[in-house]
Amino acid sequence: MTAETLPARLLPASAPDALPPYRDLIDLDGWSPRDLSALIARAAWFREALGDPKRRFETLRGQTMVTLFYENSTRTRVSFERAGRLLGADVFSVAAASSSVTKGESLRDTIETLQALGATIIVVRSSQSGAPDVIARHLRGAVLNAGDGWRGHPTQALLDLFTIMRRLGPLAGRKAVILGDILHSRVARSNLWSLTAMGAEVVLCAPPTLMAPDVVAAYTTRPVPGTGATRRITVEPRIEAALAGADVVMALRLQKERQQAGLLPSIREYSQRWGLTPERLALANPGALVMHPGPMNEGVEIAPEVAHSEAAVIEEQVTNGVATRMAALEMIARARAWA
Ligand code: CP
Repeated sequence: MTAETLPARLLPASAPDALPPYRDLIDLDGWSPRDLSALIARAAWFREALGDPKRRFETLRGQTMVTLFYENSTRTRVSFERAGRLLGADVFSVAAASSSVTKGESLRDTIETLQALGATIIVVRSSQSGAPDVIARHLRGAVLNAGDGWRGHPTQALLDLFTIMRRLGPLAGRKAVILGDILHSRVARSNLWSLTAMGAEVVLCAPPTLMAPDVVAAYTTRPVPGTGATRRITVEPRIEAALAGADVVMALRLQKERQQAGLLPSIREYSQRWGLTPERLALANPGALVMHPGPMNEGVEIAPEVAHSEAAVIEEQVTNGVATRMAALEMIARARAWA
């Protein structure tokens, strides 16, 4: 079934006044199921509206959005910029590698400079966990986290949630497996907040050296806001046992740039023992979704036959990113009474 043939009843689209009242988007740890559902429903509305390619919106008319990227990106930066333009913002891109950051300018001075140039929204990607929090202290406008260190990538988790719910409906009773380099993954960390808040059981599967040993305690001691439910997370290092009965399999990129020497015997052995192959995927439930935040190392964490199979919703994740980021931008605009 393609995205276009999905039954619409799975995700009723909602009006903007249901959006949660957050003035920035830093991470999803404080988000309730109600907050998440409202954002996803609004993303569904935008996704449908974007069926008309001429459609434009005025939500961010008069606002200036800067994408400030200290790390490389394709899909997050482009989809944020597209979302901002579709909502009527002026959009500028700053790549740290070609900016005065290379001359030693601090994050604070960079933000104050961009603000003096009219920036009212900053979308930031940084290798430093906590960079969006620093920006929030110095910017009068809004900050959205496009990935900070290992800490969080909230819009990726929101678009993942949208993609899953658009395909499978409610998550209660569903099993989602996050497979691979969990230690270095901000995608896994943000997804843990949102998937568990929506009632999924999350199974983490990784080699012992790429597991984040403190992650289960860090999340399970934080009940779900709004319901008080305990987050259901288990660690299952045996890949076959982890995949058995899965409804969602989220493969993670092996982050070679963050690897310290000695974490893995070799990429080849990693691929053989931990790669998502057709044989392993067959252990999951019929109709299970294969996801990957991208960029993929095909043949390492995921076999090409799986990445391009009927089960894969990887391109759909990218498409859904625009609608999801439009909903996130509309959220901060409404919270700030811009729209
Ligand atoms: N998923 C993701 O963050 O991809 P990019 O690095 O291309 O933005």
